[in-house]
Amino acid sequence: MTVVRSAFGCGAALLFFSCVAQAYDLNQVRRLHHDLFNNYNMHVVPSSQTIVKFRMNIKHFDMIEDTQALMVDSWIVNEWVDPRLKWDPEDYGRVYKISVPHTMLWKPDLDVYNNANVGKPLSYGNTLLIVFHDGRVLFVPPVRLHFTCVMDLTFWPHDTHNCTLTIGSWIHDGITIDPQLMHDKPELDINELQTADGKNLTRGMWNLLDANITRNVRVYDCCPEPYIDIKVSMLVARNAPAYDWTVKLPAVGLCILTLVVFLLPPAAGEKVIFGGLSLILDVMFIAYTNMEISNAPTHIPLIVEMVCEQLMLVVASIVVASLTLRMARDPYTKGLHTVIKRPLIVLSYALCLHNYKNIVGFTRWEVSRAHQPYARTFKSDELELGENGTTHLYGGPEVTTSPGLDWLLLSAVVDRVCLIVYVAIFTINMLSFSAVL
Ligand SMILES: *[C@@H]1O[C@H](CO)[C@@H](O)[C@H](O)[C@H]1NC(C)=O
Ligand SMILES: *[C@@H]1O[C@H](CO)[C@@H](O)[C@H](O)[C@H]1NC(C)=O
Ligand SMILES: *[C@@H]1O[C@H](CO)[C@@H](O)[C@H](O)[C@H]1NC(C)=O
Repeated sequence: MTVVRSAFGCGAALLFFSCVAQAYDLNQVRRLHHDLFNNYNMHVVPSSQTIVKFRMNIKHFDMIEDTQALMVDSWIVNEWVDPRLKWDPEDYGRVYKISVPHTMLWKPDLDVYNNANVGKPLSYGNTLLIVFHDGRVLFVPPVRLHFTCVMDLTFWPHDTHNCTLTIGSWIHDGITIDPQLMHDKPELDINELQTADGKNLTRGMWNLLDANITRNVRVYDCCPEPYIDIKVSMLVARNAPAYDWTVKLPAVGLCILTLVVFLLPPAAGEKVIFGGLSLILDVMFIAYTNMEISNAPTHIPLIVEMVCEQLMLVVASIVVASLTLRMARDPYTKGLHTVIKRPLIVLSYALCLHNYKNIVGFTRWEVSRAHQPYARTFKSDELELGENGTTHLYGGPEVTTSPGLDWLLLSAVVDRVCLIVYVAIFTINMLSFSAVL
């Protein structure tokens, strides 16, 4: 802001006073002031039809995420004609223009409709106006505007927001005060500021991608006269490379961890530990991002949504794995009911879990008749699982193996379903995210 202020100071000095300072007869100016303002009433509109030319010069902006408002420091250029302020320069010692405090003259009552600081009127400081001898009045106040801009954080931390500032006469219709554009685009000084080594000065966390200015005429049902406002749309994008390291990379790590949890064999005790660890890390990630985004709770960022979903899937996987451990290690455990087991076996075909299906299938229907298949089962099981957690299953052969393995099958199926759902969620999220990357 200090940069802007001082820049403005120089600009104003050059712009306003260099010419005024020419052969300047103070007596003539005093006489002119007296003649112009003796009967001047600043509360009366200059004419029944005043055209106010409008331009905006954006100097600096910042998104205020707490209040979901965009703060813009700008020079608003206003120009209008006040017929009461005409004079003949020849009569006043060739004085072509004078400067006047803005509190002495009529000004258009332009105001920000979507003001985020309601109740605080625009502050013009002690800016002077320039009055030209043909009645033209030029007013270039540096103002700080706050206007609401609801943020959509879906693609956080790559979010882009379209913020629109609406400015218009507060009480006058479009006939009395007709705001018109001087140029189609607002002037942007944003990209001009570069340091000596060619690096752009960063503007906080936000980049201005595009800005448009449009004039809108609206006629309401109630009244015949048009109402005119000026809209300045600014497309701002978050520019936060740090989030690559603090958000995106950890999220990728968590995704890989989750995949590993699903791929661990269901009867492994490590699975529960590993899954628990993954849960804690997920929760920490969600807590951290929640602090960053808590101002926009209506738009959940995809990245947070994904971690939440992965958390729920890991919970499901751990619960079933714990249940499996519990049931498989219980020597008097009962197997699953046939109603559940039949569809499980069909499902295990579909999910390419042939090994588990074989184990359970054989033990269920053939162990009692022949010992040979059971032995095969025993081997394939050990090869597939290869860890201590299940060895005791074969301790009391005929009694405990079959029911314990039922649970193993259930766990494997749940894990595989979680994995498929997870990959689907991951792919969908990545596809929607790729639009902004
Ligand atoms: C931004 O919003 C304004 C007003 O709603 C609209 O006219 C403009 O097309 C939008 N711009 C983009 C890039 O979406
Ligand atoms: C500075 O900003 C301009 C305009 O956005 C861009 O074209 C240029 O590449 C940037 N320079 C650097 C060094 O980032
Ligand atoms: C500005 O106008 C151009 C062309 O009409 C449009 O493509 C662009 O989206 C607009 N930008 C904003 C911020 O509305």
